[in-house]
Amino acid sequence: MIRDILRMGDPRLLSLAKPIESFGTAQLTKLIEDMRETMIANDGAGLAAPQIGVDLRVVMFGFESNDRYPDAAPIPFTVLVNPQLTPLADEIEEGWEGCLSLPGLRGWVPRFTRLRYRGFDAQGNAIDRSVEGFHARVVQHECDHLDGVLYPMRMTDLSRFGFTDVLFGDDASAE
Ligand code: NI
Repeated sequence: MIRDILRMGDPRLLSLAKPIESFGTAQLTKLIEDMRETMIANDGAGLAAPQIGVDLRVVMFGFESNDRYPDAAPIPFTVLVNPQLTPLADEIEEGWEGCLSLPGLRGWVPRFTRLRYRGFDAQGNAIDRSVEGFHARVVQHECDHLDGVLYPMRMTDLSRFGFTDVLFGDDASAE
């Protein structure tokens, strides 16, 4: 089922989400199904459970190609439960980000360039990957949602925060 996405200003986007304690449950399966349908319907690169009002540590991300990020390399579709992130270097890279909870907007956000992430899939199988670039950025963005952090809260230069169509022209305005 396609769910409504909460928008910035909703206090549910600011809370600390709770860990999943049981894997392979009907509840978790349904949550992931709803998140996937909602992400695809909105052409998102990722989605976190709190964005549909579910206070649990579940994120997903991935795409073959994405109209919202036409230059981004593909990222394998991944469901990540109870994620743990470890930066692999101090190096920080800035780049444009959007968020389905801030429709029509983009911001220039600093993120760790290289990252190891660990967690579990829906069945409880371990996931352990080291990634960089846009993949690392998307994971940091989605996992921030689990801690009540939205990308403008990571920005250091708010002069590079604006409406997508104004920043990049009408071609980029599709959300
Ligand atoms: Ni987001």
